[in-house]
Order: sequence, then C-alpha cells, then structure tokens
Amino acid sequence: MSQRPTRVLTGITTSGTPHLGNYVGAIRPAIAASRAPATESFYFLADLHSLIKAQDPARTQRSTLEIAATWLAAGLEPDKVWFYRQSDVPEITELTWFLTCVAGKGILNRAHAYKAAVDRNRAEGEDDDSGVTAGLFMYPVLMAADILIFNADKVPVGRDQVQHIEMARDFGQRFNHVYGDYFTLPEAVVDENVATLPGLDGRKMSKSYGNTIPLFVPPAELKKLVFSILTDSRAPGEPKLVEGSALFQLYQAFASKDDTAAFARAYADGIGWGEAKQQLFDLVDREIAPMRERYLDLVSRPGDIEDTLRDGARRLREEYAIPLLAQLREAVGLRDLSSVVLGETKADEADDRPPLASFKQYREADGKFHFKLVEGERVLLQSHAFDAPRDAGQAIAALKRGELAVADAPATLGDGVAEAEVRAAIEALAAADAEKAAAKAAQP
Ligand code: TRP
Repeated sequence: MSQRPTRVLTGITTSGTPHLGNYVGAIRPAIAASRAPATESFYFLADLHSLIKAQDPARTQRSTLEIAATWLAAGLEPDKVWFYRQSDVPEITELTWFLTCVAGKGILNRAHAYKAAVDRNRAEGEDDDSGVTAGLFMYPVLMAADILIFNADKVPVGRDQVQHIEMARDFGQRFNHVYGDYFTLPEAVVDENVATLPGLDGRKMSKSYGNTIPLFVPPAELKKLVFSILTDSRAPGEPKLVEGSALFQLYQAFASKDDTAAFARAYADGIGWGEAKQQLFDLVDREIAPMRERYLDLVSRPGDIEDTLRDGARRLREEYAIPLLAQLREAVGLRDLSSVVLGETKADEADDRPPLASFKQYREADGKFHFKLVEGERVLLQSHAFDAPRDAGQAIAALKRGELAVADAPATLGDGVAEAEVRAAIEALAAADAEKAAAKAAQP
C-alpha cells in the first residue's frame, strides 16, 4: 500500500521517578528502536493520563520534567523523532470526544483497570463504582486517541497494555465504519526479550514494592543500593548459583555476552558477594554516568526542556494533528455552514426531470481538499486542490449563486464535458435549491 515509513508510537505516563527497571525495560529499547531505518517514531509524555492517578499538581509538574529529561539524557533525539507532551496537542482531546461517541460502553466496562476497581469494591461490599472516576473509565478512549491521531502502525507496550490497543482498534474501526476510512488500525508490539529487572529484594523492580534503584541517584547512593541487593549466605570461595540471583540478572542487563559469561564463571569459581557487587556497580555506573551528567545539566535548564517539548508539539500539530482534525470535523458533520450543499438529499420522487448533478467534497491523501460536480458516475467538473475545506465550500457556494463563472473556477472540466453542460447542471442545481428553500419557507 503506502510507502510511508512505519509509524511507531508509545506513551510514557508521567508519574514517579524513573528507575533502572524502566531504563532497561522501556527507555533503552525504545531509544534503540527509534534509530531503526524506515520508521517514524512518536514518543510522548502522557501527562493527561497521569491526572487519573496523580492529583498533586507540583508532583505532576516535577515528574513531567524528570521523565522528559530522562528520555533526552538517555539519547532520544528530538530532531529525529517526534517528542512531545500529550497536553500540548489539544486535537488529541478533541478526538477523544469523537471516539467517545462511537466507543461501546460495554467494551469499556471490560477494561482490566476498571474491572479490577469494580472487583475490589465488590470484595469490600462497596458500590461497584465507589471511588472510580470517569477518568479511569475513559482511560482507554484517551489512549486510543493518542494512537489513532497519528495513524500509528505499531505500538510497543507492556503486556498489561495490550487490551488497550485492542480497544483502540475497535474504536478506530467503528469510526471508520460510520464516517469513512480515516484511521489506521494499530498493532501492539510486546517485546518478549526485554528483561524484567529484579529489584533489591529479588522481586520485580517496581515502585509499588519499594525495591527500586532510581536511575540517576548520585554514585555513592547507587553504590549503597547495589550493595544492599539481597544475596544468599554463601561465603567467598563457595560456588554461587546464577539461577535466581537478582545480582546476576542485573549484571546481565548491562553486560555484553562475553562479560556475562565471564561473570557466570566467576560465580562458579566462588566470587565473594562483595566483589560481585563491586563489579555490578562499576558496570552499571559506567553506562549510567554520562547520562546522569546530561540529566543533571538538563534539569538545571527546565526552560530548554519546555521549549523542546513545545516545539515538538507545534511541528507535529501543523504536520498531522490540525489537518486531520479538520478532516474529521468535516467527516462527522461539524462543518462550515456556508458550504451546505442542498438538493442532494431525498430527490423529489414523482419527478421526471433529468437527475440533478451534485457537488461532492472530499480530501485527498496529500491532505488537500477538493470538490467535484458529478452526475451519476460522470464527472462534470473537477476542482483543483484547496488547503482548507472551507475554501472548497465557498467556491461551490459561489458557483451556485452565479458569483463565480465556470470558466473562472479553480477547476477543470471532466473528460468530454462542455462548459455549457456544466453551467446548465449548476443552474438546475441552484434552481432546485431555491425551490426547496421556498417550499421550506412556505411551511407554517
Ligand atoms: N497507558 C500507557 C502505560 O501506562 C501509557 C500510554 C498512554 C500509552 N497513551 C499511550 C502507551 C499510547 C502507548 C500508546 O504504559
């Protein structure tokens, strides 16, 4: 089909402080993927989503800054990928409403996060929806808008998000079915190879377990945390098991294959835990240190990050979001009233006059707007491209009012069509319009 690069899009909820698990599981692979050829990458801060949980404005702001700085420090190149903040693209919110109006409520009832909240309430003998905001309920629709607005092909996410991508497909499909083919149906991409990093206590590294190693703590702190990783009580000289060793898994997440193999041999040879931890610290710090330096520099200039994000959103809106929303408003019927085309609905039944021609407005893949005058299958007049649907509508209106001559119209005649024929068709159309208007005015 199209030759455009594959669009890869993912959102980053702006809550909390990034830790090594986020880095290894999400940030590092995403940045590597953003450098793949023939892809157009979209990375955004899902700050509107964060409002569903976090209702502390200062923390929301702080977290947005930290997460933006983390991605930039980790190597995201804002001049090569789209990097923006969701709330800077108001078209996303507008599309959320359009999608809300086609989304099945029953589908949203089945969303995992909402269902879990209901189940908890039931277990506690509470009302089903006790403490549940409409924001939590609508989460998947906002997420669908994030994805559909840029016609993303692939959406790399964690397993827990796959259902949301399915819902985005469903809402997109419903919209397409009702209004025409506007949206690409996205696919979730779950990378099975990406490591889930264990935390200090060996369980999955997660803020909710309080076992994380924050990404950009000072080196002394990083060292202290690494040395607090849970190990068994085997003494130096005793062979150690790599299976089930959080320390080993952490090492592996940062080391080359060869270094990992060497580390495994050191385990078998009875390396002491202190020595093993020192090696892990050195390894992690080697990778993190240059990023940490960039990070500290970035957060000391928050205004520059603000500019970067705004610039990304501004360009992205111009390129995609604004034109698409113009098209969608047109599609759903939120239209410029001056372009109303009367006379093409409900043709007069007992009427043996020749069929009326009609104006059709549409949009081409290049984003330009066009109209044509058709009589059945036959194209009588084909317009040139317009930048805005409004301009197309106004040209049609002017033609019908006789203010714009066919010869002067920004349009070309259909194959084998004479100008006089076009004039006659437009006149007949205008006359039918006038007749209809008169009939309407005569109604009590
Ligand atoms: N819900 C996602 C998460 O918690 C974040 C997100 C918001 C997202 N909008 C998105 C991810 C769009 C992918 C695409 O991880």
